[in-house]
Amino acid sequence: MSVAYLNGHYVDLEQAKVPVLDRGFLFGDGIYEVIPVYAGNPFRLTSHINRLRKSLAAIYMSLPQSDDELKTIIGTLIEKNPYDNASVYLQITRGVYVERHHDFPEQGEATVFAMISPLPPVQKLSQATEIKGYSVITAEDIRWQRCDIKAITLLANCMLKQKALESGADDTILVRNGEASEATSSNLFIVRDGVIITPPLSEHLLAGVTREFILLLANQHGIPYEERPIPEHELELADEIWLTSSTKEIRPVVKVNDVTIGSGQPGSVWRQMYEYYQVLKERLYLGEISGEAKL
Ligand SMILES: Cc1ncc(COP(=O)(O)O)c(C=O)c1O
Repeated sequence: MSVAYLNGHYVDLEQAKVPVLDRGFLFGDGIYEVIPVYAGNPFRLTSHINRLRKSLAAIYMSLPQSDDELKTIIGTLIEKNPYDNASVYLQITRGVYVERHHDFPEQGEATVFAMISPLPPVQKLSQATEIKGYSVITAEDIRWQRCDIKAITLLANCMLKQKALESGADDTILVRNGEASEATSSNLFIVRDGVIITPPLSEHLLAGVTREFILLLANQHGIPYEERPIPEHELELADEIWLTSSTKEIRPVVKVNDVTIGSGQPGSVWRQMYEYYQVLKERLYLGEISGEAKL
């Protein structure tokens, strides 16, 4: 059984319990982070912690724990669990209050919870051909207006993902005001004529750590990129489409609403970017770079 962290204690995951009066349970009043871990190293941890602080500030919360204390919790979970590659889930809610009021109570003690789950082993470059291209649908984004906050209230995301599964697809690309923003748990990229395009950061999408890293990689390797809106109809005209996240990394999309994208196979720019990503992970394994993977 895996070891989790709850409010200062390391406990068996199945023994970790939170009172029903926790505002996370009653109101979905909390935020979270998901941090990938490769060869025991949290990947891009500083970016994840910075985003966690932004999400907390956006919901009028702060934490007594310093960044170093959060890093220690994550490091200890990695030590206590036997996974080489993993993802750490860190959730913070506003905590337990005896009365159920909508108003945010005076800041009391937040509930801090973290758990870790295994991720598949690092893919060899030769395995790129085994990566399945996703088939996706598009749908109106029915989420709220603050998708830049990594809030635990994910019901709309779950419904939109389920909509894809029920129509035989893998995921849903979300559309608001005619523009494609992201998918249910990943950011969106398209490639046209060799240029990587991703929607600009706004309150309608999450500032993905993987998104940021891919733009850094593109910059480092001289691949042109643009941050600009992507009208929904442009998806079908793209040579390539990718969905990116900390656990999916860079996932090629080969079908949108039954229209084949490019050749129907993961594209050459995807393959190049995938290789850059895997090479960095390999170097982490060899101890040549730190988990921050500074470029
Ligand atoms: C809605 C949404 N967009 C984008 C992402 C990608 O973010 P990251 O690359 O930091 O994992 C996620 C990750 O879970 C997400 O839930």
